[in-house]
Amino acid sequence: MDRLRVQGGQRLAGEIPVSGAKNAALPILCAALLSTQPLDLDNVPRLHDVDTALRLLSQLGVRSHREGHRVQLDASAVSSVEAPYDLVKTMRASILVLGPLVARFGEARVSLPGGCAIGQRPVDQHIKGLQAMGASITIEHGYVVASAKRLKGTRIVTDMVTVTGTENLMMAATLADGETVIENAAREPEVVDLAAALVAMGARIEGAGTDRIVVHGVQALHGASHRVMPDRIEAGTFLCAVAAAGGRVTLTRAQPSSMDATLDKLRETGAVIECGTDWIRIDVQQRARAINLRTAPYPGFATDMQAQFMAVNCVAHGTGIITETIFENRFMHALELQRLGADIAIEGNTAVIRGVAGLSGAAVMATDLRASAGLVVAGLVAEGETLVDRIYHLDRGYEQMEIKLAALGARIERVRA
Ligand code: UD1
Repeated sequence: MDRLRVQGGQRLAGEIPVSGAKNAALPILCAALLSTQPLDLDNVPRLHDVDTALRLLSQLGVRSHREGHRVQLDASAVSSVEAPYDLVKTMRASILVLGPLVARFGEARVSLPGGCAIGQRPVDQHIKGLQAMGASITIEHGYVVASAKRLKGTRIVTDMVTVTGTENLMMAATLADGETVIENAAREPEVVDLAAALVAMGARIEGAGTDRIVVHGVQALHGASHRVMPDRIEAGTFLCAVAAAGGRVTLTRAQPSSMDATLDKLRETGAVIECGTDWIRIDVQQRARAINLRTAPYPGFATDMQAQFMAVNCVAHGTGIITETIFENRFMHALELQRLGADIAIEGNTAVIRGVAGLSGAAVMATDLRASAGLVVAGLVAEGETLVDRIYHLDRGYEQMEIKLAALGARIERVRA
């Protein structure tokens, strides 16, 4: 298993580009299933999760051609409607084929994802929504088995805000008979990007980006091209790296308008931030100030940025309180950060972090995607060598993270197993 070796203590300087958003690319790849005509995508990040999605689509009979960051998909000859456990267990977002398959083919068999490191993460809302649209759904041998002649538009109120749940139902509704209203919809920018791709394919969608999405079903979707939005979590992770390690860095090909909560918190740490339409510059000349934060659905503070800000708090001046409201069990990075000398007390879903003057490098273990990012941020400031193990988690969601950080002057390298 590959590891990352980080020698902390370097300030970061320079310019790096932000990659396409993983959480937008995954649903948009699945949207290809909704049409017999080709979907042409650009700015698709080169990540393990994208590989997994393409492997899953290929098992269903979708042909794809990938060149650099472009992917062309052709779902004209789909031969299977089954998403097997082997793939779904490695990537929960595989559930995103459920809505498109039922909508276009009237049937789907998708493995239940099961538990994962950051909590239970059930998919009951996806199922409840499809049932409300007339699908009959049973759970057989660990699979969600769904069938429907043609889905029918209806009004769905989800019990909680769910990102992939909203995406699955919005995709299903594009081909349903009549109007579907999704209330309590997720407002994440990735939902908006998926809606833009679907509209380019001929879908009729209003309200994406608000908590009420209205979809007027059409008979068929057609081919389209779409450019995937920039990854706000990757961008935020690099900004946290600078907030912790100090320096002056410019991110290009970014989308600061989707990052208000993250940028506000960075300013609270004392970082000076300037933005254009598609770039962000951060300048950090002093030790960060500790901040309090509470994760919430968009436009609140993203749970996917929580671990990285915890790492910043670890070396900040003062005490910061972090409350995680989206996922239970999402503080596993705290134990690893303690191995680097951090002072963190956890009580339920709240972490109290007292900033220390310095961390000291150690061997640590990545437990999930964003936890790993938090460990890398901490490693960049820790004195001596930090060895981050199990970085396959990082490779799921960050494109060439160590190469980008090294371009900013960080001393970081991949140690091949
Ligand atoms: C997506 C993101 C993930 C991010 C998360 C929250 C993708 C591919 N992944 O995950 O990076 O951390 O949003 O912003 O976009 N829930 C249920 N029943 C359901 C669905 C969700 O109880 O049917 C609960 C979950 O357990 C969780 C909360 O709702 O507590 C939010 O989860 P959700 O928004 O669905 O997360 P994902 O879409 O899986």
